[in-house]
Parts: sequence; structure tokens; C-alpha cells
Amino acid sequence: MGFPLFSYFLCFLLFFPNFSMQSSRRASVIRLPNGDSYGHPFDPTRVTQISWHPRAFLYRNFLTDAECDHLIQLAKDKLEKSMVADNESGQSIESEVRTSSGMFLNKAQDEVVAGVESRISAWTFLPVENGESMQILHYENGQKYEPHWDYFHDKANQALGGHRIATVLMYLSNVQKGGETVFPESEIKESQPKANEDWSECAKRGYAVKPRKGDALLFFSLHPNATTDVLSLHGSCPVIEGEKWSATKWIHVRNFDKSGSTSDDECKDENVNCPVWAAAGECKKNPVYMVGSGEGVGYCRKSCKVC
Ligand SMILES: *[C@@H]1O[C@H](CO)[C@@H](O)[C@H](O)[C@H]1NC(C)=O
Ligand SMILES: *[C@@H]1O[C@H](CO)[C@@H](O)[C@H](O)[C@H]1NC(C)=O
Repeated sequence: MGFPLFSYFLCFLLFFPNFSMQSSRRASVIRLPNGDSYGHPFDPTRVTQISWHPRAFLYRNFLTDAECDHLIQLAKDKLEKSMVADNESGQSIESEVRTSSGMFLNKAQDEVVAGVESRISAWTFLPVENGESMQILHYENGQKYEPHWDYFHDKANQALGGHRIATVLMYLSNVQKGGETVFPESEIKESQPKANEDWSECAKRGYAVKPRKGDALLFFSLHPNATTDVLSLHGSCPVIEGEKWSATKWIHVRNFDKSGSTSDDECKDENVNCPVWAAAGECKKNPVYMVGSGEGVGYCRKSCKVC
């Protein structure tokens, strides 16, 4: 059986004398703009689709062990009690709903963080600038995050980059027991086999993902038509044994970097092509992008003369 294959290979070498074993190594299908020599190459074959309602995907070994350890190291001494956003005002408040501790890294804080951020971007097809800075979370015995949505209920938080469209949750440690990510409303929660494995009671209440060092979970908080997906409800089950470290990247529908500034009040264009587009009548034809809507300000307000 091996012989015909081998002779085929010989013919191949005959016709393609420049072929070398080097070029036959499987390379990443997506080339990252600034290289990414620290982690694994981006490899979409390691992604499995978990469910469509909500849209959720699991990427095995998204991070190397070294990357996980590095992210924990960066956070270790800077943890503070995690907060939640108040439903009405959007202010950060403490809540019994969320008992972990955590901290935010800076975007592209070092080469490892920048590498992970560009890999997330390649995986989600969403630009790096739409992401918030990464949050590192630590859950000890009994700590949890009750089921919640990642999209905001208040208007103040949506002004910054619009709704959160997607979340990438990276597991930085293994957890002996508990600490699963659970989707209580997932349409496939009944069909997940739970008999043979060591799931916590909390995990049995929905579709659950076991935290495994290096794995990453991607789920979408918005439907493809940009309305909020109530099925994206998810929580972090209480840690029963061991401790849980995770990193979260929230990604918005618009640029999140520029929103920290007071650009809402400033009269300027966000794109060099704005004057040309405005002259071509785009302010009228494409007002949401050019001028803005209730959801946020547009990109060519100066050229459209609305400020
Ligand atoms: C916020 O509002 C949601 C939906 O109305 C509700 O389920 C949740 O309990 C509220 N959270 C807080 C902290 O008030
Ligand atoms: C958006 O898509 C969701 C899911 O397919 C659907 O339930 C909802 O009715 C749609 N909303 C609009 C306004 O099209």
C-alpha cells in the first residue's frame, strides 16, 4: 500500500525539483501583520463549533503554557475585587453576583500580549482596535460569576465603541473541579452528555465548557443582524477544587480605542477620505456611518457639517 504512494512522491519530485520538505510544512492560512513568534501559529483547524444559538466556538490550545503563565505573572500582584456595571447608570459597582478578583492589562503591553491580541483578531475577524484591554481574572474556592450577558443594558457603556459583539475567554489554568463556563439558555444544553464526567452541579444547568489551560472560548453576544442575543447568557461556575485563572477579551462593534477620548465633542473626521465621500453625497446616502445615529457618532461629522 505504501509503494504506490511513494512512487507518486518520486514523480512529484521529478516534476517539481525545487520542492523541498521545508515548503511542505503546513503553514498558517492567515498571516499575522506583525508576526507572532511567541505563541502557537494561528491554526483554525483546532476550532470546533459548539452551538449556533448562541454562536459559540472552542479553540483547543489557543495559548501555549508559557503564554498562560506569563499572563498570570503580569496580573498576580495587581488583583482587585471584580466589579459589574450598574444596569441603569453603567457605573462600576461591587456585587455578590461576581466574586472573583481581577485586573486589566494594557493593550499590547508587551510582545506576548500583542501577539495574543493579533491572534484573537485573526480568529474573530474583528479588528484589534475594537477590543477592550484584556482582563485577567482569578477565582478561588467558591468564587463565581452568576449568569449574565456581556452586552450592556445602559446607554453610557454603549457610547464607547457600541455594543460588545463578541467575547473571547481564555483559560490560563486547569481547575480540578468546578469553574466551568456555563450557558444556561443554550439550545443544546439537554444534549450535552454529562453522566461520565466530573461536572459540577452548576455546570449541569446548561451547556458547559471545562476550563483547560490554553483553550479559548469565543461566543457572540449579538445576532448577525446586530440585535442582542439573549441566549448568550453565561456564567462562571463556582470553583470547587483548585483555582481558576482566565483572560477575557471583549470586542465591540466599533473602534474602542478612540472612545476614551472626548472625540464626541470634537469636530473632526475619523477617515482621510471623508471630504471625498461627503462630496459624493455619502452624508445623505450613508448617514449612520457618516453622521452617526442614536447608537453613536459617525466618522465624517466635520465633512458632513453636522458639528
Ligand atoms: C440587570 O438587569 C437584568 C435584566 O433586566 C437583570 O436580570 C439583572 O438582575 C440586573 N442586574 C442587577 C445587578 O441589577
Ligand atoms: C434578528 O435575528 C434574530 C435571530 O435570528 C431574530 O430572532 C430577530 O427577530 C431578528 N431581528 C430583526 C430586527 O431582524
